[in-house]
Amino acid sequence: MNYDHRFHAGNFADVHKHVVLIALLERLSEKPAPWFYLDTHAGAGLYELDRLPQDPPPEFRRGFEILWQATPIDPLLARYRALVASDNPSGCLTRYPGSPLLARRLSRPHDRLAFVEVVPQRQAELKRHLGRRPGVHHRDGFEALLALTPPTERRGLVFIDPPYEQVSEADRLVETLPRACARFPQGVFLAWYPWADANWTNGLKRRLSRIPRISFLDWLSPPRDGLWGSGLALVNVPHGLPERLDRLQPELRSLFRDRLGTTEWRTTWATEGDRDTPARAPRGPKR
Ligand SMILES: C[S@@+](CC[C@H](N)C(=O)[O-])C[C@H]1O[C@@H](n2cnc3c(N)ncnc32)[C@H](O)[C@@H]1O
Repeated sequence: MNYDHRFHAGNFADVHKHVVLIALLERLSEKPAPWFYLDTHAGAGLYELDRLPQDPPPEFRRGFEILWQATPIDPLLARYRALVASDNPSGCLTRYPGSPLLARRLSRPHDRLAFVEVVPQRQAELKRHLGRRPGVHHRDGFEALLALTPPTERRGLVFIDPPYEQVSEADRLVETLPRACARFPQGVFLAWYPWADANWTNGLKRRLSRIPRISFLDWLSPPRDGLWGSGLALVNVPHGLPERLDRLQPELRSLFRDRLGTTEWRTTWATEGDRDTPARAPRGPKR
């Protein structure tokens, strides 16, 4: 596997997924009951931005650096900036935390976290960055999605963030996500997908849209070569979250306009009634 998230750390897709991730975890912590967090494609956990090659400019310059140089007004954006600031005590942006560190920081002592990473070197880095109580699993993320759900806590968030380097990854998401949703019907699921080839992404969304109570949140810049949009599929969106995220999007779009151009925030939220319906098991053979 050639994929190394170091080169993409803090790019605008990371901003998109991490803002939503923080919103969801903050939401879970509103109730005292413990939650479970599963990160199926965890990565190294922390990325040294100052060690990246400068030519071409690293991706975080068109991503998190924009928020770093701003004073965000929206409390969620401000919280996100503050979480990253705790890895950069000198005041210079030299390190960017991945989803495992962000989730760990937002967790309480009684919450439980599991991080899955298949590449041994990334896994070793992740263990080092997490320090004590790591909860790191060396296995395939889609396999873990079924093996580690449902959690005993019966509430929580599953984050699925594959690199999409292999053709099979989209198929595995389409095949595994509905089964995991049926196993853990109270769970919130967040899955990332890229916008680089619109036909491919529209096809993937069409296949995912069969999942009950699924919503889509796309952040699109004008199409160009490479990654020009970031997509999130959410199952079981908590009440009030669409309004919360829709509220921050004008600020996010305005902050990023200079470096990304005019961006579009395109959402398809599951309707309230649909969101309130308990998830049904998919038809087909039982595991
Ligand atoms: C996009 S990165 C994850 C970034 C991380 N979620 C974050 O937000 O900071 C994808 C990671 O998945 C790992 N990976 C690739 N295939 C995997 C698989 N089948 N199971 C688990 N991890 C996998 C890669 O090594 C890489 O570190």
